[in-house]
Amino acid sequence: MLLLKIPILLLLFGFSSAQLEIPSPEKSKEKSTNLPPCKSCSVFVESFKKGMKDTERGKHDGGDAAWEEKKLGSYKTSEVRLTEIQENLCKEVKRGEDQCHTLANEHEELVEEWWFKNQDSSDLHTWLCIDKLTVCCPDGHFGPNCDTCSDCNGNGRCKGNGTRKGNGKCSCDDGYSGEFCNSCSIQYYESFRDETKMLCSPCHPACGGDGGCTGSGPKGCRKCKEGWRMNPEYGCFDINECVEDSRICKQKQFCVNKEGSYSCLDCDRSCESCDGDGPDMCKKCSPGYELREGKCTDLTEGSGDLEASGWTDDGSGAEAELDHQSTIKEEL
Ligand SMILES: *[C@@H]1O[C@H](CO)[C@@H](O)[C@H](O)[C@H]1NC(C)=O
Repeated sequence: MLLLKIPILLLLFGFSSAQLEIPSPEKSKEKSTNLPPCKSCSVFVESFKKGMKDTERGKHDGGDAAWEEKKLGSYKTSEVRLTEIQENLCKEVKRGEDQCHTLANEHEELVEEWWFKNQDSSDLHTWLCIDKLTVCCPDGHFGPNCDTCSDCNGNGRCKGNGTRKGNGKCSCDDGYSGEFCNSCSIQYYESFRDETKMLCSPCHPACGGDGGCTGSGPKGCRKCKEGWRMNPEYGCFDINECVEDSRICKQKQFCVNKEGSYSCLDCDRSCESCDGDGPDMCKKCSPGYELREGKCTDLTEGSGDLEASGWTDDGSGAEAELDHQSTIKEEL
């Protein structure tokens, strides 16, 4: 009985949701997202500030300047304008819209207090999020007491920066390490330093993983990666495996050197051995093929008398197909 009911419920639910035009699951998920406390307060403040911008009055032409200023001045902190802002509050927010509305309702009185009494003397974010709700800290401060962040030397971010959370320690950018992000990670070297700034740049790809480097280019490597060899003049240079070992690939294959490695590719089917791709690169023709005008040519092609004398497919073509695999030694 239960087994029967489930599909019916699913069917009913599916039907009704289609009819009510429920917003897409991703959209409603965004809307109901719960942001961390400082972030949600900042989102609210941003929306409020947008409302203030939208209700700013443009320049009025002519008229009594003093009277205009008085009128606008009073409008600036008026209840009318506040209501106008509140009507559209949070509507443009995507992530955490629900939470933004909740915050607006819960702290309506605080916002009014700021609006009528503190608008000219303090910034809404500082007043509300840092001082009153104590969910944020000023920039460069973290944790419950808004302690000063570690100095990450511009190469990392302080954990908890601007919020009442985190531990104030540095989370370093790629390439940087150390408590204050003032040293280079392995496989990076110091490429610039003055009193205020230090930069790390990646080692050349030819440098061996655990050795790192002392500077740029293949000459900066302390060790070379597999497939590369140290030369006192040039630093790490690519080993040409194809030249060093002419038998590195199978018969019916040719070798292609790559940076740090090599590939073995199949010869044309007309070749028994070759130096490259195509019937004109054979070193020796396959059985059933003969060198004509620099190309190994199928003897059965366009010559009926040969076909009659038994020069039909001898199976070398099929063999070539079976062998149609190339061995590739990938970089580590
Ligand atoms: C903290 O955040 C502010 C504003 O986003 C930024 O300017 C500052 O560099 C940050 N400080 C640290 C140490 O991460």
